[in-house]
Amino acid sequence: MKTIDNFNFAGKKALIRVDFNVPLDENFNITDDSRIRAAIPTIKKILNDGGSAILMSHLGRPKTGPEEKFSLKHTVDKIKELLQTTVSFANDCKGEEAKNLSKALKAGEVLVLENLRFYAEEQKGDRDFAQELAKLGDVYVNDAFGTAHRAHASTAIIAEFFPNAKYFGYVMGNEVTNAEKVMKSAEKPFTAIMGGAKISDKLLIIENLMDTVDNMIIGGGMAYTFFKAQGKNIGGSLCEEDRLQTCLDILKKAEQKGVNIYLPEDSVIADKFTNDANTENSSNDNIADGYMGLDIGTAAAQQFADV
Ligand code: 3PG
Repeated sequence: MKTIDNFNFAGKKALIRVDFNVPLDENFNITDDSRIRAAIPTIKKILNDGGSAILMSHLGRPKTGPEEKFSLKHTVDKIKELLQTTVSFANDCKGEEAKNLSKALKAGEVLVLENLRFYAEEQKGDRDFAQELAKLGDVYVNDAFGTAHRAHASTAIIAEFFPNAKYFGYVMGNEVTNAEKVMKSAEKPFTAIMGGAKISDKLLIIENLMDTVDNMIIGGGMAYTFFKAQGKNIGGSLCEEDRLQTCLDILKKAEQKGVNIYLPEDSVIADKFTNDANTENSSNDNIADGYMGLDIGTAAAQQFADV
C-alpha cells in the first residue's frame, strides 16, 4: 500500500478525496465534525511538506443537482479553524473557477471544491468527469474510507489518471491496517459488531467474517430484516424485503460454522423519526404497527455487553 509517507509533497498540488459527509442542522451548522477532524493529519502532512491541498467530497445524496443543504461551503469555516490556514472555496467542483483557484493555490493553502454529487457523473463513475477533476491536481490522495466501497468517479475511476502519483491518506491507511489485523490475527474469542441500515451493503463482510469470528452482534436498522425473515411483526421498521432469504441463509451458515449470532432482544421503538416522537421499549417479537425500531433496547444493551 502506497501511503502519503512514501512521498514528499513539496511544490505539489494534492487532490485529496475526503469523506466530509457530515451531519448539518437546519442552520447548516456541523453537528459532528469527526470526519473532518479525521482527515486533518493527512492534509497537514501535505501542507507541512510544502504542498497545497484541493479537497473534494460528497455531502448527502443530492438527487438533481445543487441544493443549499448539501453544499460543502458549510464545511469551510471548520476546516479553516482546524488547519489555521487560508482555505478557499470553488462553487463548482469543475470548470473555470475551480481551475483558476487551483492554479492560484500557494504552498500551505487549501481549496475546497463544491459537492461532487451535484453531478450525476460522480456516482456513475464517469470517466470524462473523473478526468476533468484529475486536471486540478498533480498527485491524487484517497482518504475517503467511508466511500471506499463505491466505484465513483472521484474514488476509483480518477486513480487511473495518476498512474505514478496516487496514494492512500492516513484515514484510509489506518483502516486498512486495522482491518487486516483483525481479519488475520485477531485474539480469540473474536466478536464482530455490525450495524447500519442495509444488509445488502455488508454481505461480503459478513461472509468473510463468518470464517473467523466466534460471535457476531447485529444491531442497527439491518436487524429488522432478520426479524421479518423470522416471521416477526416489525411495524414500520427498516426492512430490505428482497433480502429476507439472505438473512435466513446467514443464520443457517452461522449455525453450521459454529458462529453465535446475536440479534437484539428488544428495541427502543418510536412512532416517528424525530426528537419529539413517542418512544417505548419493546420486545422484537412483535413491534406494534405505527411504530418502528430505532435503537437497541435496555435488555439488548445488557445482552450485547455480556457478549
Ligand atoms: C457514509 O456516510 O456512509 C459515506 O459518506 C458514504 O455515503 P453514501 O452511502 O451516501 O455513499
